[in-house]
This record gives sequence, structure tokens and C-alpha cells, in this order.
Amino acid sequence: MNRVVIHRQEKTGYIKPELHGQFIEFLGTCIYDGIWVGEYSKIPNYRGLRKDFVDAMKELHPPVIRWPGGCFADIYHWRDGIGERENRPVTYNENFGTCCLDTNQFGTHEFMELCRLVDAKPWLNINMMTGTPAEMREWMEYCNREEKTSLAAERKENGGKEAFKVKYWGLGNEMWCGGGNATPECYADQYRQFASAIPAFYSNAGKDEEKIVKIASGPDGNKPKERVKWTQNLFRSFAEFRQPPLDALDLHFYNWNLEKAEETESLFDEEDWYRVIRNCFELEDVIREQYSLIAEGVAGYPEAENPICEENKKPECALMVGEWGNWHGSSFSSIPALYQQCTMRDALTTALTLDIFHRNCNYVELACVAQTANVLNSLFLTEGDKFLKTPNFDVFKMYKVHQGAEALKCDYSMEKVDAEQILYTFASTKEDEIYVNVINIDFHKEHHIEMVFDVDVCYKESMLIYSQNPRDCNTFDHPDRIRARRGDVPEEIQRGYRAVVPSASVNLYVFKEQIYAV
Ligand code: AHR
Repeated sequence: MNRVVIHRQEKTGYIKPELHGQFIEFLGTCIYDGIWVGEYSKIPNYRGLRKDFVDAMKELHPPVIRWPGGCFADIYHWRDGIGERENRPVTYNENFGTCCLDTNQFGTHEFMELCRLVDAKPWLNINMMTGTPAEMREWMEYCNREEKTSLAAERKENGGKEAFKVKYWGLGNEMWCGGGNATPECYADQYRQFASAIPAFYSNAGKDEEKIVKIASGPDGNKPKERVKWTQNLFRSFAEFRQPPLDALDLHFYNWNLEKAEETESLFDEEDWYRVIRNCFELEDVIREQYSLIAEGVAGYPEAENPICEENKKPECALMVGEWGNWHGSSFSSIPALYQQCTMRDALTTALTLDIFHRNCNYVELACVAQTANVLNSLFLTEGDKFLKTPNFDVFKMYKVHQGAEALKCDYSMEKVDAEQILYTFASTKEDEIYVNVINIDFHKEHHIEMVFDVDVCYKESMLIYSQNPRDCNTFDHPDRIRARRGDVPEEIQRGYRAVVPSASVNLYVFKEQIYAV
């Protein structure tokens, strides 16, 4: 029997809502078609932003959205995307084989409007490859300056009456590849210059929640040797002389599925199912490794010669995962670029990955799934006026309860099938409720689990994401084939409940702590 003991009295960390972040980029049809259709489109829209997309995003409470890339960020000039739309320059987008004209209709103001509508914080990634510190600085001034400068006046003229107060700023993207094939040492030098050019916004200075968060490009999480070298050498370079302002390192990790050329994201066998699912667990080790390397790196900074001076204090540097998700090899030949279907396999790895972030909430500050629409591990697929929510959407929606909850200590004793664990769980609590996720990775069989608590609880409800065939996905003909639905009531046992967990499914059980008046 599988059994998890949930310690309601032992909270292990706060689950920042930012762990459920989103990432959108000018790539394939993520933005044009997926999010932006223009205000004169027949597709219902809110001032150009597709209504079906915005309404669905609102259901998720996305805490943060990262934009404009990705690799695209390192060739993007923000001025191309402001002002009257008909006067914006037409450029060419070759990002990952997107290969089409770019009319720059979606720019800073359209992105801010999206964030406003869905109540998400914006993360802007600046251009460090073909851009300059001056261009970055002007974008920041344009977005955040409250005082009456010419750039603030231009923002107002373009419809941004209030400063956007963008908190998250990424300095470069994947600098080891698309961002310029830099060595960590070379990037460290560039970073020093850009980070030092960031303007000060004094009205924000004292308030932590409004502080500018300066995010450096982290390593390629999929290269075990290189990622260690990147982080070590970056911090060694920073340690050599006065340290530049730095708040976070942006690690990227994709669950690559490249082993079999004939396999596609929805045509796979049982072996492929287990391989892709098991590979997603590597991220947990990468997080722990990178967290330690950051801590070592910061500890390696020399003691300040003048400790009274504020800037000389040893900084804290958080770990963020700016891009994550399944990347199936078949998407390289997709049109539009990097378009992937999302099956139950993707739903399970999405749930397992979010649980990695939940479990490691003391190590990871923020994470963004790549990407929200029409690219890789998407939550939405569109084609003209057609729109659907993938099962990944349901995972995010079902898991929303964990945003702002406290992770709980759990002890497991899990059965093994062929020496491998089959059920995976995570638990958190908010107010008097306890949320327990149970994921069954068995391709064929249901399994039983006992959920036992150190306090008295009563069952409130449960939800599950399940489909008869694990290869199932939602299509434009059957957009709701897979939808989260109410689960069966578990059987009450001593100090807890016993549940039957269907094969290849993601489940959420909600319990209420019983508090007796004495
Ligand atoms: O998400 C697709 C691409 O993957 C991004 O542009 C890049 O940052 C990464 O390599």
C-alpha cells in the first residue's frame, strides 16, 4: 500500500505565487495569433488581445509574465513597438524558424495591457546582444519614471498615464548561445556595464515589493558540466573586483525528448511515456546544485574594505527558472515554429515540475513555463478563430490553490513497480485547508494511496485530470476531451483517507482541519 503521512504542524516553506509564472515570446504563433489579433479582427478581442486567451488567463491568476524573449529579446529594439501602430517599422522574425514579417503591433503598451487585464507582474528582458546600455536605460526610464521627464511624457502620450513600475528586468537571455555565445567571463564584464547603467527610481527604493529585481542570465540547465562552470566562473568574475548589482540568476531547463526520431509529441509508446516522465525529475537536482553554486559564489566575494558603505554588503542572489517545459524533437519540424500538441504525458510532467518548484520553494524564487501559447509546453493552442486549452492549463488551474500556501513535511512509503516509484505526492496548507496532490505515472493501472494526517481532518473535495488513453490531447474538434473534473470521494480510515488513483492521472484532494471548541 502506498502511504503518505502529512504533517500539518510542520510547515517547510512559503510557496511564492511567482512559481506559477508564464513566458511569451515573438516565436511561431505564440504572440501573433496566440495572444494578439488586433483590434479590427473578427476574433473577439480586448483592444487587440484575444478575448478567449485573456479570459482563460484570468482564471489562472498568473503572477508574472516574461516577455519579449527568449532569444528574441537579444535582437529586440523596444522603440519598434511603441507609438501609432500603423507607423511601426516592419522587421523580419527568424527566431527558431518563425520566418515571417513582424509588424511590431504588439509592443510595450500591449504587453502592459495584457499584464493589467490578467493581473500579472511584467518581467521585461532587455537586449544585450544588439542593444546598448543606453537603449536599456531608456526603456527603463520610459516604463518606470514617474517624474515629468521627456520619456515619461512620451509614455503618457502613448497611453501609459501611470508608470508601469516594472519590477523584474532580465539582463540578456541565454548568453552562452542565442545571446552572443559568450563565455561566463565575457558576460560578466558586459553584465557589469549594463547592471551599473540601471537608473534609480527613488520613489521605489524603500519598498521591497517595488524594488527593481536585476536578473542575470543563468546557465543551460541541460548541460551538466557547462552549467556548473557557467555559474562558478560568473561568480568568480564578479568576485574579482567590486561587485555589480545583482538580485537573481535565471536558469533555463527543458525536458528534452530527442531520443527517437520517429516519436512525436502525441505518437509514443509506453517506454517513451516513462522516459519523458522520468527525465523531468532531473530539474530537482539541477535546482539544488545551482542554489549551492550561487551560495558558494556569493560567499566567495571578498570582504568589503569599507563595510559601512551599503553597496559593499554581500548581496543575496535568488535562483529563478525563467524557462522550463517539455521540448519534443518533433517540434523542430512544426509549422508554426516549435508548435507542440500537449497530451496527458505533458500534463503529468507539468504537474510533477510544478511540484518540484513547490517542494523547493526555499530554493527557487520564480519560474516561468515555456511557453504560454502555441510554443512547446503550452497552455493554449490557437489557429485563427479556433482556440483550446490544453491539459497543462488544467494543471495550472487546479494547482492555483498552492499559490501563497505553506509547503508541508511529508513522509512517504511508496510501492515500487520494476524498482521505480509510481505515485508522487506533495502537500501544502492555507488557513484551515490542506491540499494534497497525487500523480500516478502508471501507464495502465490504478493504485491505492493512504493519506494520513497528524491532525484531525475531514474531506472537502477532489479534482482529477484523466483521460482513457494517456496519448489523448485536446483538439480543435474535441477541445474539452481532457478537462479537470470532480474526483471520487476517498474512503475514511483511521487518521486519514484511502483513495483510488486512476492510471496516468493528476489528482488534488482538499481536506479541512477539524478544530474542536473546548
Ligand atoms: O522557448 C524557446 C527558446 O528556448 C527561447 O527563445 C530560448 O531562450 C530557449 O533556448
